[in-house]
Amino acid sequence: MPDTALMTGASSGIGAEFARYRASKGGDVVLTARSEARLKALAAELEAAHGIKAHVFATDLGTGEGVYALVDEITQAGIQIDILINNAGFGGQGRHIDRDLDDELGMIDLNTKALVALSHHFGGQMALRGAGGILNVGSTAGFMPGPLQAVYFATKAFVKSYSQALDHELRPRGVTVTLLAPGYVGTAFADRAGLHGTNLVKGGGKTPASVAKHGYDAMMQGKLVTVNEGPLGFLVNWVIPLLPRRTVLKMILNMQKKNK
Ligand SMILES: NC(=O)c1ccc[n+]([C@@H]2O[C@H](COP(=O)([O-])OP(=O)(O)OC[C@H]3O[C@@H](n4cnc5c(N)ncnc54)[C@H](OP(=O)(O)O)[C@@H]3O)[C@@H](O)[C@H]2O)c1
Repeated sequence: MPDTALMTGASSGIGAEFARYRASKGGDVVLTARSEARLKALAAELEAAHGIKAHVFATDLGTGEGVYALVDEITQAGIQIDILINNAGFGGQGRHIDRDLDDELGMIDLNTKALVALSHHFGGQMALRGAGGILNVGSTAGFMPGPLQAVYFATKAFVKSYSQALDHELRPRGVTVTLLAPGYVGTAFADRAGLHGTNLVKGGGKTPASVAKHGYDAMMQGKLVTVNEGPLGFLVNWVIPLLPRRTVLKMILNMQKKNK
């Protein structure tokens, strides 16, 4: 049974709930994000509640230096990562050409490049040991193009493709890669992405705790791809691919435009 799980984006939302659920199972955790005080508070909560060890390494995974610093710190501390949960990510509503280019490129850096670098490093170590699990947090956004979040949807399409190919390469070596593709979840994501006032967020979304449990359990079962909402999973896998492309583009635009 693997015993230490690294989770990115653990300072809030789904990532903090991954940490809580994982700790409730009795496993050690390594928590990372930029907000050190929030990570430390969560680590103290988990150690007190579950008697596990919770390490905190605060870093900015939107930069190459931040990613390498995290890997270095974990290596220096002599911690073996048995489970990697690549969860940190953000979106941003608006027409691509109207949005700040640095924000768009930073989204690509965090949502895809950091995820690839950590999967390459820790996945490689897991393969050498012949055991391990990686859970990559994509989105149902990865199953279609997304006008008014063009870059975000594209990053999640990348995560969907990359995760499945990596699983196919690593599974014979004892390592599984699971893609968790949630629908809308009620977290700080909508604040950061500027999605309030759109139809997408109208229903309030699923709770981060339910999504984290769904994804963690799917990873432990070695599933390849999982959507936390059954009907939504059917829609993105079996209906959307058959619809005319323009119809899909219009549907997503309507979901993501601000209501007057
Ligand atoms: N909420 C949804 O509707 C939804 C749906 C599908 C998929 N997802 C995906 O779920 C994942 C988690 O999102 P969430 O909903 O839990 O949102 P959230 O509450 O905003 O959490 C995002 C996490 O990412 C971390 N993060 C952001 N920028 C970072 C950076 N530069 N370096 C390191 N960490 C950074 C944040 O911590 P700091 O700010 O402290 O760094 C935070 O812990 C994301 O990949 C998102 O795309 C969300």
